[in-house]
Amino acid sequence: MSLDHSNPTKTKAWKKLTSHFKDTSAKTLEEYFGSNPDRANKFTITWNDFTVDYSKNRISEETMDLLLQLAEEVGLKNAIRDQFKGKVINETEGREVLHTALRAKETDVIKVDGVNVVPEVYAVRNRMKQFSDSIISGSAKGYTGKAFTDVVNIGIGGSDLGPAMVVEALKFYGNHLKMHFVSNVDGDHVHETLKGLDPETTLFVVVSKTFTTQETLTNATTIKKWFLKSAAQKDVAKHFAAVSTNTEKIEEFGIVPQNVFPMWDWVGGRFSLWSAVGLSICLAVGYEHFSEMLTGANEMDNHFETADFEENIPVVLALISIWYNNFYGSETEAIIPYSQYLSRFSAYLQQGVMESNGKSVDRNGQKVDYQTGTIIWGEPGTNSQHAFFQLIHQGTKVIPTDFIGFKESLYGDKDHHNKLMANFFAQTEALMNGKSPEDVKKELLSNNKDESSINKILPFKVFEGNKPTNTLLLDKLTPKSLGALIALYEHKIYVQGVIWNIYSYDQWGVELGKQLATAILSDIEGDDIANHDVSTLNLLDLFKN
Ligand code: F6P
Repeated sequence: MSLDHSNPTKTKAWKKLTSHFKDTSAKTLEEYFGSNPDRANKFTITWNDFTVDYSKNRISEETMDLLLQLAEEVGLKNAIRDQFKGKVINETEGREVLHTALRAKETDVIKVDGVNVVPEVYAVRNRMKQFSDSIISGSAKGYTGKAFTDVVNIGIGGSDLGPAMVVEALKFYGNHLKMHFVSNVDGDHVHETLKGLDPETTLFVVVSKTFTTQETLTNATTIKKWFLKSAAQKDVAKHFAAVSTNTEKIEEFGIVPQNVFPMWDWVGGRFSLWSAVGLSICLAVGYEHFSEMLTGANEMDNHFETADFEENIPVVLALISIWYNNFYGSETEAIIPYSQYLSRFSAYLQQGVMESNGKSVDRNGQKVDYQTGTIIWGEPGTNSQHAFFQLIHQGTKVIPTDFIGFKESLYGDKDHHNKLMANFFAQTEALMNGKSPEDVKKELLSNNKDESSINKILPFKVFEGNKPTNTLLLDKLTPKSLGALIALYEHKIYVQGVIWNIYSYDQWGVELGKQLATAILSDIEGDDIANHDVSTLNLLDLFKN
């Protein structure tokens, strides 16, 4: 057993946090700031080009001390060491968890079963470089001798969300290749994508760790059929590449070995964009940018592995999130990047966070009697302000929110960027301070409203404030800062899983749906419908007839 298996609620720190919560839950952010003029400095971490201000949270120094004590008591230090050292911390699947090895330095030594995996990682990275260089430069040609213009990534879950999010995030650094992503087994997705494509100039990258995923194999087969309407079987060699651990199945599909990029069992799907799963990223922005992103992630890895917990960004953010999830009873967290490029960031993190920590059985196989995984959601600001911010400001729920912004924009349009960032700062301030009845009254009086209409409208215009936020301010959205940002959230997931005493790196919950869908497909395609509950039977009958 590599990880500690103790129930966090039985620790001394948890008990102290429970009574500390009772004593302090009524205290407001205004009071916290009022009682400590140095609070913003005290609760800000600066690291590389990251400034993380977590002062607008309902925490005191004592809260943080107790949360840090919790981290110590559950053995977080050892757990972090075990992950980086390649211990089998994914015990239910009997696997190491080494996405960090994918972005390690070439001179590092990280062993799996006694073998250093870093040289293999770099060998695959070199092949990704050569392959993507040849497609981007046009030296590799399609079956009629034309250079490639379009790339379609075929994958789902971790084999889609990571590359899709990063390709969008780093669009500014992109080249002439037009990128497309097909994931859903919904045939309309694949046919809509193929509609505008030319088989002579399109490259297809089939990404599937297992190469058994129904959606990906169905889409890949449909695409191959479409391709073979204009091309010959031998042309598949020029137009199809694959990324997988399952090389046997790829051969059956007909993809030539030189276009097959391996990955490893010790890389989880939702943490795999750093592996050959990132081939589409290399194609979209070039290998150098891909490599810079890995450097950024590696720097965050070093920070996570070595910084003291009170200065450790992933640890601090994870602890604060636990404070709200387990003591305030918050169920969701919003992630709001003030960058349109990061429009897929929250969707990407939904898989990372919810597939990892959406567990209700602890590491002893017992049902937990406390809350685990948070629900993640969000959209970029300022759009989200005009969509769902009303609920964060004036709804009944406490929704801890991360605001992610950049000092510089990529096109350098100051007018736009100043307006964007004015909103960024204004929102966290407004969420914290709200608007008191006195202020509302003053404002209405200055607008010449009479006393009776003021009294009528006043309750609706009051904002309670006291809404918690973290502000992550970075210099600029670069491949490197993006790599560090993604790695930060990856590590936050692990810290929380360790504390909740759950296994963050398996995903058995996704399996049931897959099995049942296979069974129901036979019902749909066969003559008879097998036994189901009455509701499902009725619906199937309606669908078939
Ligand atoms: O949805 C479950 C899952 O196993 C994810 O963890 C994974 O990212 C996705 O399916 C895709 O799996 P594969 O890469 O094996 O096709």
